[in-house]
Amino acid sequence: MLLEVSDLQTRYGLSQALYGVELCVDASEVVSLLGRNGMGKTTSIHSIMGVVPSFAGSVRFDGAEIRGWPSYRVARLGLGLVPEGRQIFPNLTVRENLVATAAQGVGENRWQLDNVLEMFPELTARMDIMGNLLSGGEQQMLAIGRALLTNPRLLILDEATEGLAPLIRDKIWACLHRIKASGQSILVVDKNIRDLMKIADRHYILEKGRIVWQGDSDALTANRGELDRYLGV
Ligand SMILES: Nc1ncnc2c1ncn2[C@@H]1O[C@H](COP(=O)(O)OP(=O)(O)OP(=O)(O)O)[C@@H](O)[C@H]1O
Ligand SMILES: [Mg+2]
Repeated sequence: MLLEVSDLQTRYGLSQALYGVELCVDASEVVSLLGRNGMGKTTSIHSIMGVVPSFAGSVRFDGAEIRGWPSYRVARLGLGLVPEGRQIFPNLTVRENLVATAAQGVGENRWQLDNVLEMFPELTARMDIMGNLLSGGEQQMLAIGRALLTNPRLLILDEATEGLAPLIRDKIWACLHRIKASGQSILVVDKNIRDLMKIADRHYILEKGRIVWQGDSDALTANRGELDRYLGV
């Protein structure tokens, strides 16, 4: 297993948000994390990445126990995050955004500036303008491109299609399919379950900080009636 999370527990002050999250992602696998608003999807991702501290449990990445590591070390080990709300650097140019965290020299360096720009040609003409002048869709492409350029062993996407027009959304999903086809391992959080069912090999459902269900897309389809209460659809 590339990523193995077990009994992960996190609290914000006195309020506990995760009560023992269990999930795993294998190499070249695409796994989704589903659940309604406030169920702990972002907190799970942030706890895995070391962005928020967890207080119990285990996060193993490629065999190493990384729970408690600072997020920069987690990132360096090969976890690349496309955060909720994109979080691009507004006062850096597109080019600077892309290269600021790029990591070359470790592993196979599958992702380089040229193949990222080939995937997101929209960015090519915008390389020298400030990040905050991009459209929402372009900012999302930039956020994904920036994460890819760290050449992550696991790419984690938190609501990468949120707030985008349907056409742009489709474009992002098409790119994610290409990224998957390249063999990239992905953990993805999104509200568009139909799109997730097309791309993810397996799904987990979070309910109030606990995993209440896991299965593949066929099992999710077969159990939709029973599972819709967890999905808010
Ligand atoms: N910084 C914070 N401080 C205090 N409580 C927080 C903080 N961030 C999240 N929470 C709480 O933790 C719980 C899980 O929130 P989280 O953001 O992980 O949910 P989510 O599944 O990502 O939701 P959404 O679909 O809205 O993004 C919620 O009850 C939320 O109010
Ligand atoms: Mg969230």
